[in-house]
Amino acid sequence: MRVLGIESSCDELAMAVLDHDGRTLLANVVHSQVEVHRPFGGVVPEVASRDHVRRLQPVLEATLDRANLPLEAVDAIAVTAGPGLIGSLLCGVEFAKGLALATGRPLIGVHHLEGHIAASLLETIAPVPPFVSLLVSGGHTNLVRVHDWGHYEHLGATRDDAAGEAFDKTAKLLGLGYPGGAVIDRLADGYSGEGFRFPIMMPGKDNLDFSFSGLKTAVARMIDEMGRPPTGAALGHFCAAFQQAVAENLLKKAFRAAKKSGDGALVLAGGVAANSRLRSMAEYRGRREGVQVFLPSRRFCTDNAAMIARAGLTRLCRGEQSGLDLTARAQWPLFERRAKA
Ligand code: KG4
Ligand code: ZN
Repeated sequence: MRVLGIESSCDELAMAVLDHDGRTLLANVVHSQVEVHRPFGGVVPEVASRDHVRRLQPVLEATLDRANLPLEAVDAIAVTAGPGLIGSLLCGVEFAKGLALATGRPLIGVHHLEGHIAASLLETIAPVPPFVSLLVSGGHTNLVRVHDWGHYEHLGATRDDAAGEAFDKTAKLLGLGYPGGAVIDRLADGYSGEGFRFPIMMPGKDNLDFSFSGLKTAVARMIDEMGRPPTGAALGHFCAAFQQAVAENLLKKAFRAAKKSGDGALVLAGGVAANSRLRSMAEYRGRREGVQVFLPSRRFCTDNAAMIARAGLTRLCRGEQSGLDLTARAQWPLFERRAKA
């Protein structure tokens, strides 16, 4: 089945065509609104949806053009139905419904976080459930046990900021603008973090939750003490120390969960999983501790439509389908909460 994926849950409008084998991408287009939102220092929901409306048709045309296929050659349409910014989601969902109606092709609404986990299926060596996934994006930081596709168990989550939020807020404090994760990653390259030390925040030893607000406070205090944000090599070391602290925070609990589950497999997913330090540390710990680590390519970690097409394909293959009454959901829980003992 050849699937057209559509992703518009936040400030990226992406479309992709995934071929019958579930791995070959015939097209993968991402239109980012970073420049549109940069003057505001963050995503403005109203501005995001207006930009999506303008871009939907041109991005579809560019995607089909790149795939060198007419719309009729697509067998199904998968679209992110939530969670996310409601205006942004509605753009993608209503557009997808229009395409499904016009072509008579099946439609499937995809959970954005399920899409992030499914990004790992686009790689040559793909994970097979059960496994533990560390889901780290701009809005979410979760540890999930994937019993099967569609059957998720909540293991832990952040109690305050998401990991991506910690990156973005730190970048803002450093005067690096928005969005910050990729910039901090790039500036840290080649630096060891010498001269800076950030706290590793652990909300209790017996749970699998995270906390990043203390780290953000430490960043603000350190910059305050220095009088102004560091520059040059000091900035490189600052960024390296910061991402080291985030990675240690995340991996400590993620590896504990992977080992405790008995699955021995850990899948990283979401925009922050593109971080170089997090990736190298995860690979190193995986080898040392006998946990198989799956890292989707960096381009499939940040928001994209290939992952939505892939998640949609799994559900379509099971005979699942959404009706034309599919609605966008700003809030949409992924988990079945673990039953209390
Ligand atoms: O998954 P994603 O693209 O969008 C959401 O669903 O939120 O994640 C975006 C987040 C942002 O906070 C961004 O700063 C962060 O991922 N990010 C990174 C890197 N690339 C993107 N964080 C650290 N290192 C990176 N290389
Ligand atoms: Zn995302």
